[in-house]
Amino acid sequence: MQIFLDTANIEEIRQAAELGVIDGVTTNPSLIAKEKRDFIATIREICEIVDGPISAEVISLNADEMVAEGRKLAEIHENVVVKVPFTRDGLKATYALSQDDIDVNMTLIFSPNQALLAAKAGARYISPFAGRLDDIGQDGIAIASQCQDIISSYDYDTEIIAASIRHTQHVFLCAQEGIDIATIPFKVLLQMMKHPLTDIGIEQFLNDWKNANK
Ligand code: E4P
Repeated sequence: MQIFLDTANIEEIRQAAELGVIDGVTTNPSLIAKEKRDFIATIREICEIVDGPISAEVISLNADEMVAEGRKLAEIHENVVVKVPFTRDGLKATYALSQDDIDVNMTLIFSPNQALLAAKAGARYISPFAGRLDDIGQDGIAIASQCQDIISSYDYDTEIIAASIRHTQHVFLCAQEGIDIATIPFKVLLQMMKHPLTDIGIEQFLNDWKNANK
């Protein structure tokens, strides 16, 4: 499974990239706004740190404007993936951008039928939001998995990105379900590394070593 980092924070991206476990980065307007930095400069800097797909989202809601915005974003760097929200205009824009060989990540996907339409319109990536589905009492990972099953059954050049990942159990379930990609916050990446028995084991090894070498 590929792991993307779901953040626009340069320091987090730098630290995660050093670990060699990050395959790409996703941002959204909320994550960009949180950093209070220039959007284009931030995306460019992320592309210099991580050599993989970097999602940058359009903010227009009209198809023609999404396409114009998407084309500009795609000019920042060859690894930029244009993130487009799932709407009727978003589908139209996705189709147009994909016809120009611009990779699109269709975002705000909440059902397998939306995922099917996104794939047919040419989306290179499709992002079902697991955590937000959990928030309304649905099983977010199960729905992401249904999206994955449908896309994998056909010959689409499309990968599923499980998004809105909130905790380590989400990541484990994505891997167990064979979901292509999980995009995870830095905090969840740190939590994935932790196990109390690892800490106890290190302490014990070091104590035994010290006692034997007194
Ligand atoms: C990533 O593509 C999404 O924008 C992100 O995972 C949304 O996460 P949230 O539901 O925690 O805001």
